[in-house]
Amino acid sequence: MALETDFIVIGSGVAGLRASIELAKSGAKVTVLTKDKASESNTEYAQGGVAVVLSDDDNAELHEEDTLIAGAGLCDVEAVETLVTDGTKYIKQLIEWGIEFDKEGGKLAFTQEAAHSRRRILHAHGDSTGKEIVRALIARARQEKSIVLMPFANTESLIVYDGRCVGVRFLDPILRAPREIFAKAVILCTGGAGQLYRHTTNPPVATGDGMAMAYFAGAEMADMEFIQFHPTALSLENAPRFLLSEAMRGEGGILRNKMGERFMARYDERLELAPRDIVSRSIVAEMRRTGTRNVYLDMTALSEDFLRERFPKIYETCKFYDLNIAEDLLPVSPASHYCMGGVRTDLHGRTTVKGLYAAGEVTCTGVHGANRLASNSLLEGLVFGARGGAAALADNYELRITNFKLENPQSAIRNPQSDGIATAVKKRVKRVMWERVGILRDKDSLKRALREFKQIEQANLSTSSRNFVTLAKLVATAALWREESRGGHFRNDFPERDEKFRVHSIQKKDAEISSDEKINF
Ligand code: FAD
Ligand code: SIN
Repeated sequence: MALETDFIVIGSGVAGLRASIELAKSGAKVTVLTKDKASESNTEYAQGGVAVVLSDDDNAELHEEDTLIAGAGLCDVEAVETLVTDGTKYIKQLIEWGIEFDKEGGKLAFTQEAAHSRRRILHAHGDSTGKEIVRALIARARQEKSIVLMPFANTESLIVYDGRCVGVRFLDPILRAPREIFAKAVILCTGGAGQLYRHTTNPPVATGDGMAMAYFAGAEMADMEFIQFHPTALSLENAPRFLLSEAMRGEGGILRNKMGERFMARYDERLELAPRDIVSRSIVAEMRRTGTRNVYLDMTALSEDFLRERFPKIYETCKFYDLNIAEDLLPVSPASHYCMGGVRTDLHGRTTVKGLYAAGEVTCTGVHGANRLASNSLLEGLVFGARGGAAALADNYELRITNFKLENPQSAIRNPQSDGIATAVKKRVKRVMWERVGILRDKDSLKRALREFKQIEQANLSTSSRNFVTLAKLVATAALWREESRGGHFRNDFPERDEKFRVHSIQKKDAEISSDEKINF
């Protein structure tokens, strides 16, 4: 039997939780469907912190300027202004709700990250900022009686009727069967797609499902070619690419090659604090030059007491791998980290499909342009989660229950054989994405990737595998279309920025890729 609610929020990271709290203010019933346990998300693993204008030597203009410079000419100025000004308001509110950011001498402590002209990053428990944000938001959401959190409820597709999103199809964790739920509106907060790549800092839930679902529902997707690779993921054989926060370089960490030389001066005068895309490409160049698979992060100039206190999670994790961050050089290499592109929205989280709203990493709001400034995404989730929730309330669509028929009721039911195929498909896509649609791209590599994806698509794929391959195709198609290098997108065959491409790539189901000068519509 189909379910009904007032609003459906998909995802329980910073964006989903903040949107739910906003919606619940009205007393409306909010059902939060989330794929794993409620705390499992990219948000939970965020380390460095959240950028916000709150220190005495900072102001909104400076934060905006840093964001625009990082975005390499593709940010939407209005979106950036909204992020920065609303950001301060919503962080203050989070503090009122009980979040505990780190302090020094009774005052908020701010750290430094690359491409920020001020120390403006708030952090919590040293390097566990995301975990503290999730804790505080879940505690706040639990105070709202009208929010129902449904964990392990994997959503597979959106139900569109008469041009409007009226519900979703998900895998009911108790019935272990696909089911529909209908609502006045759906707010998509499913996060990013770091898992598209073989090496990633993202947890397993970050498979970009929401982007694919929105695309199949007819929503416009923007700037999918822009992927941010984090320069310093711990690089050990057979271990996940655990993130070594940029804040470590902010506190004085140095990058060295296998000969022990500090090499960043060869590539950029801002050294280790150059923008992420530059540091990542410099590391790749240095690894190629020296014939190695990693470089090293050197924290040994800092005391063990300071490091243990400032980066407790990183300290303990490295210790697990028999590395003492105060004494050993830490092997690092770049890994996929963040998607700048996603579902195109206006400044209130409205997508191009009526009744479908989106917030957080799943979106392209125009705040990040071609490259995200470090620690701006937790802020984005908070600000646009709240705005998306408010817009869904204001638009006040009517509940509409349709005779939606499951295309293939079996597709969502898991069995060992389909699980095996899905794993194999995803493994292949991740390899192709890493090798051909990665940090450095060119026409040949992208065309070969697209040919492979086409071949993979010929198989009888489950919905989740189909979503995954579709997303990979969207990234590769946009990367092939953009014949220039800008921000997180680097083409060996077009290494310069080209003003002709100072536009956003737009992709929509059953249409050729096109461009638009603005994200917000
Ligand atoms: P997420 O937090 O990823 O949440 C997505 C939610 O959607 C999850 O609950 C997931 O389970 C759910 N979901 C996904 N698919 C489905 C589905 N099919 N059905 C149902 N539910 C689904 N940013 C910063 O600003 N500062 C930092 O210090 C920072 N550090 C980071 C460190 C790491 C290791 C990583 C990976 C990212 C970091 N980021 C940081 C980026 C930031 O964490 C994310 O961009 C941000 O948290 C995204 O929030 P979100 O709410 O959009 O998505
Ligand atoms: C980090 O701590 O390096 C991650 C910060 C971010 O992705 O914004």
